[in-house]
Amino acid sequence: MKRMLKSLLLLSTLCAVVTGLQCAKVKPESFAKRALVCGAGGFIGSHLVERLKSEGYWVRGVDLKLPEFSQTAAHDFILGDLRNPKTCEKATLIGDVPVDEIYQLAADMGGIGFIYEHDAQILHNSVLINVNMAEASRKLGVKRLFYSSSACVYPERNQLTPDHPVCAESSAYPAAPDSEYGWEKLFSERLYKAFEKDHKVTIVRIARFHNIFGPEGTWEGGREKAPAALCRKVALAQDGGVIEIWGDGLQTRSFLYVDECVTGILKLMRSEVDVPLNIGSEEMVTINQLAQMIIDISGKKLTIKHIPGTQGVRGRNSDNHLVREKLQWEPSSKLCDGLVVTYKWIEQQVAQKYGAAKK
Ligand code: NAD
Ligand code: GDD
Repeated sequence: MKRMLKSLLLLSTLCAVVTGLQCAKVKPESFAKRALVCGAGGFIGSHLVERLKSEGYWVRGVDLKLPEFSQTAAHDFILGDLRNPKTCEKATLIGDVPVDEIYQLAADMGGIGFIYEHDAQILHNSVLINVNMAEASRKLGVKRLFYSSSACVYPERNQLTPDHPVCAESSAYPAAPDSEYGWEKLFSERLYKAFEKDHKVTIVRIARFHNIFGPEGTWEGGREKAPAALCRKVALAQDGGVIEIWGDGLQTRSFLYVDECVTGILKLMRSEVDVPLNIGSEEMVTINQLAQMIIDISGKKLTIKHIPGTQGVRGRNSDNHLVREKLQWEPSSKLCDGLVVTYKWIEQQVAQKYGAAKK
């Protein structure tokens, strides 16, 4: 009995040492950099958390929800609402010291079907998040903040035709975005820059993302964007069947794979570039071409049926002149490469939820 107790004691001491080591390992102070990712339960945010962690950061995530499709990689995760200024302050501080970097990706957002139908909600929620995060960063002395803006800031007048949309950074003004979502992004760009100029506390870096896609993005429910929506429709379709797409399919877009986006974010954040930059692909396709690429990847024979649906601007493409010049960054892969990975992932999701994918 005595020997057994002794062994138990030894075992528990060993466990305590191991646990202690593990705790010591994840102490934020022992990391060279500490980052807060706002929107870490979302698509790009969860990928960004993983990358930062793999680069040796201590990472805290904050979001209304945990990532839907995988476990968060964050060392620490706060389930909280950034419309509440107290949550923003709590998330920014480790003890009484601010995080070194904030990546602000939290927003009420979705594909075009969602953003055209929720103007008041989007303006209300995202403005509150950004006002609170700008103020928390200033008040608590955060050195650097990344803000995720959007291609939706560009004027509608330059995106009326499918062939030659103009989305150079300098074309954002005179402002005339086609959606309230775009106006909110433009306002928040200005808000962060005004805080940077007047308070001289937080250096701000801003990217305008152009339709980001990849595994672990929303693929159903109304917030999904075209790549995920079309992957889902193709995965659900019977071989020889039909998929429906909104509009005549001649509208154009470009799509950027999520890993490329994360690389772009980090390059921009670590640069001296103080103006907003596009982070997107210049490989513009029609939505019909996008659909056909996905159909080809699936190996099925499907017909495209055009139905009424929200279309947004007629044409949009990233203009990467400035980002190439300033960051020497551009996407390294083709649209098709990212679609292969994304289709496979969505096909699995569909199979898990609705039964084996139909071939
Ligand atoms: P996402 O919807 O997957 O992630 C946003 C996250 O913000 C969500 O997890 C959501 O729960 C969280 N959030 C919303 N309201 C919140 C609140 N009040 N408090 C805390 N968290 C809240 O979107 P995403 O695709 O990962 O986009 C990330 C950012 O990039 C967003 O700001 C978006 O507007 C911007 N952006 C994305 C794209 C794209 O194609 N994905 C294009 C342009 C801009
Ligand atoms: N979502 C979706 N679902 N779009 C479809 C579908 C479908 O089933 N079928 C065709 N489309 C067409 C839309 O009509 C639109 O013309 C085009 O595909 C692209 O739609 P989305 O991917 O939903 O949005 P977007 O490119 O217009 O805008 C998105 O990208 C912006 C940045 O470039 C949105 O996600 C914005 O929130 C984002 O900021």
